[in-house]
Amino acid sequence: MKKILVTGGSGDIGEAICRTLASSGAHVVLQYHQAQKRAQAIAKEIKGHALQADLASEVEIKKMIQQASKHLGGLEALINVAGFPINKKTRSYWDLPFEKISRKMFEDVFAIDTLGTISCIQAVLPIFKKQKFGKIINFASSSALLGHNQGYPFNVAKAGLINLTKSLAPELGPYGITINAIAPCSIRTHWLDHYPKHVETQLKKKIPLGRLGTPEDVAQLVSFLISTGGDWLTGQIYLMDGGETL
Ligand SMILES: NC(=O)c1ccc[n+]([C@@H]2O[C@H](COP(=O)([O-])OP(=O)(O)OC[C@H]3O[C@@H](n4cnc5c(N)ncnc54)[C@H](OP(=O)(O)O)[C@@H]3O)[C@@H](O)[C@H]2O)c1
Repeated sequence: MKKILVTGGSGDIGEAICRTLASSGAHVVLQYHQAQKRAQAIAKEIKGHALQADLASEVEIKKMIQQASKHLGGLEALINVAGFPINKKTRSYWDLPFEKISRKMFEDVFAIDTLGTISCIQAVLPIFKKQKFGKIINFASSSALLGHNQGYPFNVAKAGLINLTKSLAPELGPYGITINAIAPCSIRTHWLDHYPKHVETQLKKKIPLGRLGTPEDVAQLVSFLISTGGDWLTGQIYLMDGGETL
């Protein structure tokens, strides 16, 4: 397994995935949206390549897949990590009651998390089907798998990816293509910086393994799924929660 495209490679989990895969010998192209400096710095360090694309645009996605494939001399895996950014500005929708969330907010999140991932998969499938091989990993969320009464646009957008993963697996299997999803729960990335400190302390208390997950924890699972160890795994949703939801 050598030629891999990681969307959202400029994000916290995406960066850890790029570094982990590159350190095990993979050739990585990472996509970024706004964080050009960070993406280029990562690309330089891992001897990879950074590509800019807005995953809300199907045209840009098609171009990104073509460029990644050209750069790598083929494509063997697509890791769909990119997701709607949760920061100070966009956090507002998270805490709103369902009926107060605008249709536009839903559309904005769906455009990246759901439709963006759908278009990435559609664009890469001709390559994977032709070579009768490919691995796809989607990024869902524990809140999509189990339900959660906060962050509805996010939960519903990610739930679509869970169904997509399960629905596509039987169709893609005969082409030698696997598709799985990771459903992270509390991974210590920048989203927590936008909350008061006590939120993290409370979260830790709810996790039987006594700590939040790290981007590196997630990267290790991706690394396994991409390896030959993952060759007979498809249509599965891997909940990563340190036992929090039990
Ligand atoms: N952290 C958690 O606890 C957690 C829990 C459940 C699910 N997840 C999922 O895991 C994935 C990674 O999470 P993370 O915490 O590492 O997120 P993150 O640091 O916010 O990274 C998000 C990535 O998505 C990219 N992105 C945002 N908008 C985009 C757009 N319009 N077009 C293309 N790319 C865009 C960002 O690019 P730029 O920075 O370059 O703009 C960035 O690389 C996401 O799908 C997230 O929903 C995370």
